[in-house]
Amino acid sequence: MNIRFSFSQKILATASAAAVAGMLTLPVLAATPAETVKLRQETMKQLGGHMKAIKGFAMEGQGSAEDVAVRAGEINKIAAKIPTLLPEGTGMDEVKDPKNGAKPEIWLDWEKFLKAANSLEAESKTLAAVAGGGDKAAIAAAFQSVGKNGCGSCHKPFRIKLEK
Ligand code: HEC
Repeated sequence: MNIRFSFSQKILATASAAAVAGMLTLPVLAATPAETVKLRQETMKQLGGHMKAIKGFAMEGQGSAEDVAVRAGEINKIAAKIPTLLPEGTGMDEVKDPKNGAKPEIWLDWEKFLKAANSLEAESKTLAAVAGGGDKAAIAAAFQSVGKNGCGSCHKPFRIKLEK
């Protein structure tokens, strides 16, 4: 009896620990489609900020290779959650936000969209590893690949760049 009791207690404890961990790692999904659009634009801006800082190191030697590695790690984490920021019904034709540049093609070819997000995940992982090595030329090359094969592989087919 006692054993059984503590066993279920343990399951409960494990379940609530998992719930807490889930809350910490999952993005806080906004309630309305319009809020989701805002949240993903903020998230994309974070990506832009990281890329700008990494470019500063790669092109002008600002900051450090360690900082590049940290930022590449952040990009990697964000890449993994990009698909959750683009639920159906939040495209530019549905959420009439003058800044919404999410093309309907995203949901017409979701597989390809996921591949683009995966590509950013892989590219940023490589950049983080290369940055760990500290070789500036190699970091610059990996950075450019993140831009072209990561960000670009998704923006080209799936995003309309709008005037701000
Ligand atoms: C898998 C797809 C995908 C990847 C990968 C991706 N983006 Fe985006 N990005 C989008 C979409 C879709 C939009 C348009 C979102 C909107 O307007 O609501 C966008 C918009 C943006 C914006 C404009 C945000 C705003 O304020 O309107 C910036 C900046 C941006 N992305 C930066 C980046 C950078 C930098 C990377 C690479 C490190 C990247 N993105 C990778 C899909 C992606």
